[in-house]
Amino acid sequence: MCGIVGIIGNQPVAGRLVDALKRLEYRGYDSAGVATIHRGVMDRRRAEGKLFNLEKRLSEEPLEGEVGIAHTRWATHGVPNETNAHPHVVDGVAVVHNGIIENFFELKDELGAEGATFATQTDTEVVAQLLAKYLREGLDNRAAMLKMLNTVSGAYALAVMFKNDPGTIMAARSGPPLAIGHGRGEMFLGSDAIALSPFTNEITYLHDGDCAVISQGSVEILDFSGNPVSRPRQISQASAFMVDKGNHRHFMEKEIHEQPEVISHALGHYVNFATNSISPSATEIDFKDIPSLAISACGTAYLAGLVGKYWFERYARLPVEIDVASEFRYREMPLSPNQAALFISQSGETADTLASLRYCKENGLKIGAVVNVRESTIARESDAVYPILAGPEIGVASTKAFTCQLAVLASLAIGAGRARGTLSVAQEQELVRHLTEIPRIMAHVLNLIQPQMEQLSRDLSKCKDVLYLGRGTSYPLALEGALKLKEISYIHAEGYAAGELKHGPIALIDENMPVIVIAPYDRFFEKTVSNMQEVAARGGRIIFITDERGAAASKLPTMATITLPDVNEIIAPMIFSLPIQLLAYHTAVFMGTDVDQPRNLAKSVTVE
Ligand code: F6R
Repeated sequence: MCGIVGIIGNQPVAGRLVDALKRLEYRGYDSAGVATIHRGVMDRRRAEGKLFNLEKRLSEEPLEGEVGIAHTRWATHGVPNETNAHPHVVDGVAVVHNGIIENFFELKDELGAEGATFATQTDTEVVAQLLAKYLREGLDNRAAMLKMLNTVSGAYALAVMFKNDPGTIMAARSGPPLAIGHGRGEMFLGSDAIALSPFTNEITYLHDGDCAVISQGSVEILDFSGNPVSRPRQISQASAFMVDKGNHRHFMEKEIHEQPEVISHALGHYVNFATNSISPSATEIDFKDIPSLAISACGTAYLAGLVGKYWFERYARLPVEIDVASEFRYREMPLSPNQAALFISQSGETADTLASLRYCKENGLKIGAVVNVRESTIARESDAVYPILAGPEIGVASTKAFTCQLAVLASLAIGAGRARGTLSVAQEQELVRHLTEIPRIMAHVLNLIQPQMEQLSRDLSKCKDVLYLGRGTSYPLALEGALKLKEISYIHAEGYAAGELKHGPIALIDENMPVIVIAPYDRFFEKTVSNMQEVAARGGRIIFITDERGAAASKLPTMATITLPDVNEIIAPMIFSLPIQLLAYHTAVFMGTDVDQPRNLAKSVTVE
């Protein structure tokens, strides 16, 4: 989603603002802009499309000035063109915004009735118009800002620059995150600490309801009534070097290949390798006495949660209620304070997941967060934080975060099993021993299947539709395979529980439709093979992702069989994620799509 940066510097800022925006590119955007103040003149450059268009504009018409704000826009209200790109400027007030001003229709009508003329289709412009109006009415900048914040409603992060005060940037948060960076004689503002990492690692995070008045050497933080509040300064872990693809063509490729390493970091946090047991940190939520667990998340994180449901129910005999966060929050599910809830989010900022978390919190549940960004809002608002330690994930399509989420959920489920007495010490040790094999097996599999995946992707890239099937924990993987393929290659794909095939989707099967069947040789193997028979009998082309025992046991003709090593059932979802990620990746590469920033998608979804 939209990215915000701001600098009050002691040297020119335009180039540095664009560099900082580059570090926010991963969030997804479709236009960009920058505004500065130089010798009392406020000026801006904006461009539709990628940042190189903005850079071109700036090289043709440079912007001077040592104070500025900049933005990457992911369109919500109004098409992604230059006119709608931020910053929006009205009478010497420049505004950039992430989120949605929900009452913008009413405000626009009111302002229009008073004679304001709007230049854009955006909700953001009402903020600039309101501020300009309050200044005309005689309020000073700070009073105008506070009045505006008490007038608009919705979810927003805002940065505002006033031509009449080039020494100050004001910012406010009510939803999407904002980080203030403390430099040497300079101050910075960004949507996250990653954007600011080349400048400083000393960060103050704004809380919801905070308004910051940032000047060259300091920041003053107020609530929306103007009362001072105090927020700590902390050292961010975001690395200044992470926007580097290394030897890889795309971040997604790099992140797929990082998985053996990052999973070992994740496991290192939850597993005691000496005793093959789960560390106490995994049972910070007391799983022993809860009657059930609620899990909620969005997209790929939700699918990790769905795998987790199988594990908690099987290994800990703990009933799990799971739903996508956008439904969970409105389902009016009866909840009781003796339950616990887990929220899974790579970014830790997803609006729907956060809203579900708050709903559970209001109902008195104990809250756990499985997050990648430990400084995120979801982490901050939780009772127990379970970091996945995947490192920054830049590719919009989640890969390493998914498998690290799985590794953490598997550890939590085993820990819960021990706490609830449904697993013995010996069973725990056996399961943990399998978990510790994941990094080695993943590294082996990545080497083993790479050439075959490239070859197969060439064929897939010619298809219009693809079906994925799986049973048990392979069912969420089928959904994830379809999600991954559609989001980066734009090929239509659907995932189904293999047993559901004959209840509808079987009608789609013909000789043009590849059916990707994910079937390790587990308890469900025979049943899944029966479903494959149904596909084969109708001329469907099967891509069979299985293991050595599965490949030996199935006699069905396939378009291709991808044979992975035999692994224990608990680690199969992590290992079987690799072929589905690589298939999606290479297919997208063949099709020439924008793999790391697929069209219309955002990395951190901070609006409903
Ligand atoms: C798909 C993908 C998304 C995210 C979803 C939730 O590859 O990345 O479906 O999983 O937007 O995001 P987080 O995990 O940040 O809450």
